[in-house]
Amino acid sequence: MTQLPHQTTDQDKVYIFDTTLRDGEQSPGATMTLDEKLAVAAHLDAIGVDIIEAGFAAASPGDAACITAVGQATRNAIVCSLARAIKTDIEAAATALKTARKPRIHTFISTSDIHIEHQLRSTKERVLETIDETVRYARSFCDDVEWSAMDATRSDMAFLTRAVDAAVRAGATTINIPDTVGYTTPQEFFDCIVALVKQFPTARFSTHCHNDLGMATANSLAGVAAGARQVECTINGIGERAGNAALEEVVMAIKTREDFYKCHTGIDTKSLYPVSRFVAVTTGFPVQKNKAIVGANAFAHESGIHQDGMLKNRNTYEIMQPESVGLTKSQLVMGKHSGRAAFKNKLAEWQIHMSDEAFADCFTAFKALCDRKKNVTEEDLLIMLGKQQKVAVPDFAILTSFNTRQKAPNDYEADIAIHLEGTTKTVNATGDGPLDAIFKAINKATGCTASLNSFEAHSVAEGCDAQAEAVIILQQNGQFHTGHARDTDTVMASARAYVGAINKILAQKRGS
Ligand code: KIV
Ligand code: ZN
Repeated sequence: MTQLPHQTTDQDKVYIFDTTLRDGEQSPGATMTLDEKLAVAAHLDAIGVDIIEAGFAAASPGDAACITAVGQATRNAIVCSLARAIKTDIEAAATALKTARKPRIHTFISTSDIHIEHQLRSTKERVLETIDETVRYARSFCDDVEWSAMDATRSDMAFLTRAVDAAVRAGATTINIPDTVGYTTPQEFFDCIVALVKQFPTARFSTHCHNDLGMATANSLAGVAAGARQVECTINGIGERAGNAALEEVVMAIKTREDFYKCHTGIDTKSLYPVSRFVAVTTGFPVQKNKAIVGANAFAHESGIHQDGMLKNRNTYEIMQPESVGLTKSQLVMGKHSGRAAFKNKLAEWQIHMSDEAFADCFTAFKALCDRKKNVTEEDLLIMLGKQQKVAVPDFAILTSFNTRQKAPNDYEADIAIHLEGTTKTVNATGDGPLDAIFKAINKATGCTASLNSFEAHSVAEGCDAQAEAVIILQQNGQFHTGHARDTDTVMASARAYVGAINKILAQKRGS
């Protein structure tokens, strides 16, 4: 793959477009509340994300409200709403973005034969007319308009070029080439972007790669090598099906291989690890241990040969320093005797900003954690901060106590007490395991009829006093509701995660 010459410094900036709040939220179970989205957006803005896609205004009043709130709260980044190539969608996006400091409308239409014929039930000529009409309409509301060719990578190249031409002529300033179904390969995508950049030198080209074949990051980077100067991605790679290109992977590849890509991003990479954990806590999607850049094992050297090399010279097996993504190797970062100033410094290092009141709460929680846990690692600290900063849905139901006992093999009984709507209910249930009995008792107490879609519990951080993280996904009427909780007691974490998912169902019922 050949490298294209990059002449000026500005041309070397790759703009990071984060779609965690839109495409990321399309992962089943990753639904976030408005307050949670605002908190994620604040993190994204603080770490230097250039464009935040805050939602799809026409999808629901909740999405529209979120775009408005994020648009008003965001200081540096452009805030964007997705819109189909439909006038009412564009109007909804424009309305939601009316008060945003830096608005962008992102409109899209499919360009592949299969989508045009079967999904749009339209023709190529009609698609070209629609691009012209809708991009012009979007420009009548906003100077910054992005246009996407959905399923671009399965489109006929000659038609894709005509579609891009129509969008550029109609005033789109950014042209996004999505690999909607995660089908392309790095070489194929490189060739496609090279050809488009050559024909439309004034447009900024963007990549939007899905991970169905595990190539989202590689394809995005091939697009960058070919001259694309915007990458659409999500924190931890969450998103529709196998997810989107992971922001942290794209950013660290561009940084680590600057010699090859000859470009840079504006992301403060030292904040990647904290922001990854914050999104994991908020969405309830844990980060797999061997995940590149932010996985718990990403910087762990296990084999003797590697450890020997590392002791002699870190460069033997380490291509990036853990510190560059915000992770310090030291086990004990802070302890019981760490003062407020040291704690504040650590937060500043991670670009975590909060009000004095929130800081005081976090500091108290930190001291409480130090009392419970001998070694407080950075992972523990981030988990604790995530919990503190997470703007949870109202606690309609609160689990106040539980007790389980085994009656016979595979026959358990649980007594629980739940505070719900001003009264405390005490309920008893049986199950084939202690958790089964607790979950059944919680269902009885809250009247929950949702089915358990998935349940995961694992330890976070290291040591026997490590915290357990439990993630529960409940399914009701085709919708997924995620609950997550962490505690030094696994059963407690699981029970609280279950109640957390129920609270999301209750919040939806009550419209909050
Ligand atoms: O994957 C895709 O094609 C999209 C578009 C809406 C940009 O998410
Ligand atoms: Zn997508």
